[in-house]
Amino acid sequence: MVTEIQSKNLDDISFKEAGIYENTRFEKIHNVVYDNSGDASILIAQEIASIIKLKQKENTNCILGLATGSSPIKVYEELIRLHKTQGLSFKNVITFNLDEYYPIAKSDLQSYFHFMHEYLFKHIDILPENINIPHGDISPDNILETCIAYENKIKEHGGLDFQLLGIGRTGHIGFNEPGSHSNSRTRLITLDHITKTDAAPAFLGLENVPTRAITMGIRTVMEAKRIILMAWGENKAEVIKKTVEGEISSQVPATYLQHHKNTTFVIDKGAASLLTQYNTPWLVRSFDWSEELMAKAILWLCEVTSKSILRLTDKDYNDHGMESLLAKEGNAYTLNIKMFNRLQHTITGWPGGKPNADDTSRPEREIPKKKRVIVFSPHPDDDVISMGGTIDRLVEQGHEVHIAYQTSGNIAVSNREALKFAEVSLAMGVRDDNFRNITQIIKQSNTGEFNTPELLTLKGVIRQKESLGATRYLGIPDGQVHFLNMPFYETGRAKKNALGEKDVQIVCDLIAKIKPHQIYAAGDLADPHGTHKVCLDALFIAIEKMKTNTFMKDCWVWLYRGAWHEWGIHEIDMAVPMSPDQVIKKRKAIFFHQSQKDGVMFQGDDAREFWVRAEERNKDTALKYSQLGLADYAAIEAFKRYDF
Ligand code: F6R
Repeated sequence: MVTEIQSKNLDDISFKEAGIYENTRFEKIHNVVYDNSGDASILIAQEIASIIKLKQKENTNCILGLATGSSPIKVYEELIRLHKTQGLSFKNVITFNLDEYYPIAKSDLQSYFHFMHEYLFKHIDILPENINIPHGDISPDNILETCIAYENKIKEHGGLDFQLLGIGRTGHIGFNEPGSHSNSRTRLITLDHITKTDAAPAFLGLENVPTRAITMGIRTVMEAKRIILMAWGENKAEVIKKTVEGEISSQVPATYLQHHKNTTFVIDKGAASLLTQYNTPWLVRSFDWSEELMAKAILWLCEVTSKSILRLTDKDYNDHGMESLLAKEGNAYTLNIKMFNRLQHTITGWPGGKPNADDTSRPEREIPKKKRVIVFSPHPDDDVISMGGTIDRLVEQGHEVHIAYQTSGNIAVSNREALKFAEVSLAMGVRDDNFRNITQIIKQSNTGEFNTPELLTLKGVIRQKESLGATRYLGIPDGQVHFLNMPFYETGRAKKNALGEKDVQIVCDLIAKIKPHQIYAAGDLADPHGTHKVCLDALFIAIEKMKTNTFMKDCWVWLYRGAWHEWGIHEIDMAVPMSPDQVIKKRKAIFFHQSQKDGVMFQGDDAREFWVRAEERNKDTALKYSQLGLADYAAIEAFKRYDF
């Protein structure tokens, strides 16, 4: 739902109570929740534009505090659009950026100086002398003095009229990391480990991320007349909950904003998902119980009471805000049985359908007995990491399983790994100048990770061959393994291109060729670099385009989640159990992806190897099922059906 903002005067510019619901007693900061970050970003840009115009009318300057990172990109795009199509001028705008890495050169692609010019300044008519960004290239002796000058300059301009903020998973605003004092001013700080891991992809590896930064202080930010903080996606849900509902603490510096009188958090559904009113709405208000919410509530009740489903009593329901559900269904017994059966029916050892069995309460159809299946895997390894056990069952049960690797995954191979293969080829007498060049430049370079076209090709081939090792091990013929190399990914950098028609066409072509009865895809929206989300978008657009084809009427789509998260139990439509032997088989299949083992480049903040994450996750799902009173399996892979 999108609501227009009301702009009156500068002290009173605020988002109308918008978003999905009004704030509740749990929330200590005004927040509005939107279906998607695109609509929300447009509204933020409009608010900024109205402040600029108001100041123009008053013949004064507009002092804006700006942020970098992934969150504000769409806001800047909209500001550029307003400038280009509606004549919004930035001539009266003076900007102060929140922060900059230290040390870093302005010309560095990762510098915030570069970011701001690339994403905003070079597209608008702001005067260069009105742009202020902390300097990442000054000598250590000058830092203190420059920081004081930065503060003074903001003050001389009468303080910030508006401050745009993102939020880090540590709870940082600007780079005010945990421990920052409420009185802090612009200064040099040390980056938190989590912040560095989040920045690692942009720097092609954790070891290249600067350890320090210069940031505006908490006090500086708090003195802004108006603040909007944006947060998009489930990765931010935990820190948003702590910030909005938790106690004020230097350990989550964004909580200081609870004391700011004119702050709005503009967030999407993913970032809002752990706020009490969305996560456990039965504790907050009454509503019509949907099937999914009922399941979520009952499973939550099992968790808080430490009981299995069939042991829940009327009193449990009444004591935990679920009296309306109890009243609707009559008694705990009926509710419990309903829930138990629902979960029981998600379990199947026959992910492609069980031949000659009644399928009325099974997750998959029996017919056709032999199904054509496409498993879409965003990177070459997500297939086995996320559903290696299910692939094994599908193959063993006689289905025609195709694996489609959507991207080459080339940038996730380290130069050290590439060098090994180039040297082996040379040692084996392969006469190829490319290999000679590769070995030379890697050995000579001391700049950490970098890429050249030849290097990227080699890295892509390494991942292809590793993948074939795994698919052969699982019994899939090479002809059924497809490397789609979607072009959006091929930038050689963590930052990818936007999804294009070519990408979608490649997916459409494969679907048209195979005419699958089942499609599996990664529904993981929490992938740190967003590649899974783009791959899923490509698939959804392709399905939308193709859904009128007759064969698509017979195609069911199942979503697994990637390496980072698992579906909530209430979201699972199909749970495929694994025996202890299958767990080992899956582990061995993952082992074929050697370049992604032992200190992978894009590890995220989870230090576990991918196979360990996968095993622990599958074991955990099985444990949850057994704790709920269902059968006790070694491991379970989970899927959610996507209706189109
Ligand atoms: C950037 C900044 C940081 C980011 C935060 C979120 O100037 O000050 O606080 O806003 O790290 O980053 P993204 O938006 O990339 O998730």
